[in-house]
Amino acid sequence: MEKSKAVLFDAYGTLFDVYSVGLLAEQLFPGHGNALALLWRDKQIEYTRLVTTSNDGAHYQPFWELTRAGLRYACKRLALELTPAHEERLMSQYRHLSAFPENKEVLAALKDKGVVTGILSNGDPDMLGVAVRSAGLEGLLDHVLSVDSVRKYKTHPDAYAIGPQATGLDVKKIAFVSCNAWDALAATWFGYRTLWVNRYQLPFEELGTQPTRTGTSLRDVLAFF
Ligand code: LAC
Repeated sequence: MEKSKAVLFDAYGTLFDVYSVGLLAEQLFPGHGNALALLWRDKQIEYTRLVTTSNDGAHYQPFWELTRAGLRYACKRLALELTPAHEERLMSQYRHLSAFPENKEVLAALKDKGVVTGILSNGDPDMLGVAVRSAGLEGLLDHVLSVDSVRKYKTHPDAYAIGPQATGLDVKKIAFVSCNAWDALAATWFGYRTLWVNRYQLPFEELGTQPTRTGTSLRDVLAFF
C-alpha cells in the first residue's frame, strides 16, 4: 500500500477528552457526573445531525452553541438544576478539555517523518483555537480545519471534503484518525484511509464497512508510515 502523505485528526473525543468534563459535573451534581457527561455528548452530536440533515442546513448553529444546547437539554432530562453559574463553569471547562497524553509525541513523530498534520473537526474555529493552544499543539499542526467553513457537520460529505481541498492531496493519500466509530466509518465511506482509535473497548459500527486500521492509542497512526 502506498504511504499516506497527511494525517487529519478528529478533535473532540480523539485529541481532547470530552468526558473530562465529568469531574466538574460530578462536583456540581454529585452522583450524576458520568450520566451528564455521556448524555451531554450524545445530545451535542445528535444536534449536529439534526441541523445538517434538516432543510438543507438552514438551522446551522456553530458547535459551541450546539454544545450549550446539549448541556441544557441533558440537565433538564436528568432533572438537574443548571444555574447560569453552573452553565458557565461547565462550558468553560469544555473550552479547556484535557488533551490525551500521547498527542504531542505522536504529532512530533509525524512531523519528524515529514507528514502533513491537521485537525478536521466539527468544532468552530474559536473553540479549536483555544483547545489547540491550551494543549500546546500549535507548532505541530499544519492545518486546523473546521466544518464551520461549509456550515455542515460530519458526516456530510462536504465536511469531509475540506481535507483534500485544504491539503491539495487526493483523499486516498490522507489518513483520518478518529476515536468516534461513526466518524471513522463515514470517513472510510468518503474515501480516506482511516484509523479508528478504540479507547473504550467498544464494538465498531455494524454497517458492513470496517476502518482501514483499528488501534487503541493515537500512536497506532504511525503504522501508516
Ligand atoms: C469533532 C467531533 C466529532 O471534533 O467530536 O469533529
